[in-house]
Amino acid sequence: MTGNVMTQNISTNIENGIMYITITRESKMNALNIQTLKDIREAVASIYENNEVKGVILTGAGTKAFAAGADISEFVNFNVEEGTRMSAEGHAVLNTIEKCPKPVIAAVNGFALGGGNELAMSCHMRIASENARFGQPEVNLGITPGYAGTQRLAQLIGRGLALEYLLTADMITAHDAYRMGLVNHVVPQDQLIAKCEEILSKVKTKSPAAVASVIRCVNAYYEKKMDGNNVEINEFGNFFGSEDFREGTSAFMEKRKANFKG
Ligand code: COA
Repeated sequence: MTGNVMTQNISTNIENGIMYITITRESKMNALNIQTLKDIREAVASIYENNEVKGVILTGAGTKAFAAGADISEFVNFNVEEGTRMSAEGHAVLNTIEKCPKPVIAAVNGFALGGGNELAMSCHMRIASENARFGQPEVNLGITPGYAGTQRLAQLIGRGLALEYLLTADMITAHDAYRMGLVNHVVPQDQLIAKCEEILSKVKTKSPAAVASVIRCVNAYYEKKMDGNNVEINEFGNFFGSEDFREGTSAFMEKRKANFKG
């Protein structure tokens, strides 16, 4: 994928050494169906070896959402095998972003919930607009996060705060996210992309080999703790055989409150 590309789910264009990736499912709050994640992976993988591209800015179309999670309507009828595969594939996509030798910045322009927050957390940096809201609402659906949310949220904000937000499903405001270290900066929405560009304009002048090396070294610190990812994939998949998962996702689709039986 090079230059200006549009799929059903994303648009990409390369300008001044930056690849801009926009999730274009605005009417669905940029919810991440599986193909959207695959399109993002293909776009990011395409710049690994492209010397002209020095960084990536990933955002969501519109002013309301970065991405409001995995597409619930797509996985609502998945079985255990499909749920496990969904989680494993999501992990692989997010690892492609995290391991990208060029910095990938999430420009979080609204809701970053569930898979949307997990996608943002796989990026090397997060810049938020003032209206951004972060969270892992999976427990509302009777399920756990499935795209490494249990791992990366704890890495970014610490175990205690991560557990609070994972267990309560409370949303985190942009300013609280900044205070906790979940985002690097909070800016007015109309300055969001410019702030990301300002950071990349500095990185662009550095040695590409040194940039790639810094990313590899920082990632290496966390890799020894990565067994949790396999635990998460299996736990997530197993929920697809549970009554609570059926109840939680059906309640979302039917726009009513879930009644969990455990
Ligand atoms: N998957 C599928 N569709 C989603 C979605 C998701 N994760 N998030 C939002 N949408 C859809 C809604 O179903 C709605 O579609 P419709 O117009 O066909 O009914 C559309 O996007 C707009 O969302 P709506 O809920 O009407 O907007 P809102 O402003 O009232 O609320 C949110 C916004 C983000 C708070 C709310 O959509 C929400 O809670 N989404 C689910 C978040 C979630 O649980 N994510 C984790 C998934 S694992």
